[in-house]
Amino acid sequence: MKNNLLLGITGSIAASKTEKLYNSLKDQYNIKFVSTSEGLKYLDDNFKINNNIISSWDNETGSPHIELSRWADKFVIYPATANFISKLNNGISDDILSATALMYKDSIYIAPAMHEEMYINEVTQENILELSKKHIFCGPKYGKLDIGDEGLGRLLEPDELINIIEKTKEKIIVTSGPTFENIDLVRGITNSSSGKQGRAIAYELLSKGYDVIYIHSDLINPVPHARNITYSSSDDLYQSILKNIKDVKKIYMTSAVSDFIPEKFNKKMSRESGELFLKLSPNIDIIKTIKSQYKDIKVIGFSAQLDDNLNFEKINTKNCDYLVINNLKDNYFGSDNNKIFIIDRDKLIYESSVENKNIIAQHIVKNTTS
Ligand SMILES: Cc1cc2nc3c(=O)[nH]c(=O)nc-3n(C[C@H](O)[C@H](O)[C@H](O)COP(=O)(O)O)c2cc1C
Repeated sequence: MKNNLLLGITGSIAASKTEKLYNSLKDQYNIKFVSTSEGLKYLDDNFKINNNIISSWDNETGSPHIELSRWADKFVIYPATANFISKLNNGISDDILSATALMYKDSIYIAPAMHEEMYINEVTQENILELSKKHIFCGPKYGKLDIGDEGLGRLLEPDELINIIEKTKEKIIVTSGPTFENIDLVRGITNSSSGKQGRAIAYELLSKGYDVIYIHSDLINPVPHARNITYSSSDDLYQSILKNIKDVKKIYMTSAVSDFIPEKFNKKMSRESGELFLKLSPNIDIIKTIKSQYKDIKVIGFSAQLDDNLNFEKINTKNCDYLVINNLKDNYFGSDNNKIFIIDRDKLIYESSVENKNIIAQHIVKNTTS
């Protein structure tokens, strides 16, 4: 017997893709549609004539928001506007779709589509972060947007969405951002890593349906629809990886981890004490330590260098599966662009040109997941 799938549509120009999603799903599911009045505007006329798309209480009898929410085994909002996401997070139910969503007991698959500025707006980010506690966000991804723009906010393609609702893909850890090693109670040693590349990799993996644990520095922002865990020092990072490693198949070690650990003064250092010397001891190699204990987990290391040396010695010493090399001289920490080489233990696998870090993330994921 087929399961019931309720397809919610909201007022994004990307709503025109709903028809394709419907065509890919209609053999497996009984499908019903609920749309906002704005969503209707972006649907093809024939599609509207041939399907019963519920969009207003006026044309219905009974309480369709109650009946539909109880009928649906799966509920997918494709696409979801910033407005709809905000309404859902605030419990607003002033139309049939938002009322049905508020009635629905289980997790809803929500596929956002909007311009990057709307998506990265802190209100939208907070709404997604909050809703992610219950619901499953599917994308967005980086790509072409309305009016010829490019950015983070593109709706997932129908097959990418189906990947998420049909399959449980493997669990992957992405670490991102700098470490902070205290030298006294208020100061520390850190580095200028922005976390942009790790964040872009997390987005790319999420859009492919992976279950992403985003272990990131508390100095950088979360990825709202990943499982977020923060760290400060490299030891916090190491402990967080160990705590979450069960069933993990891959780790992208994008974090810029301190090579040295300072001896910590357990007070606030004062200039009155005169000249001080800081003792730095070499840190553990987190990748090497993890690989020695968890041989089956594929680890992708990152090497920020001041040259383009294909560092086979490093990959073999660390014992990781792939090493992604970038040259800080050309694309310093924090830049939006990057150029990378990917090597395995004995050969060059991929060389990119200088591209946006979101596109680089697509190359990295493509060449390290198979
Ligand atoms: C041409 C056009 C395209 C739009 N595309 C989007 C979009 O992709 N994402 C979004 O959040 N809002 C988009 N909007 C704005 C929404 O349509 C607007 O916020 C509307 O109130 C959403 O209503 P709904 O959430 O009830 O469907 C677009 C508006 C226009 C006129």
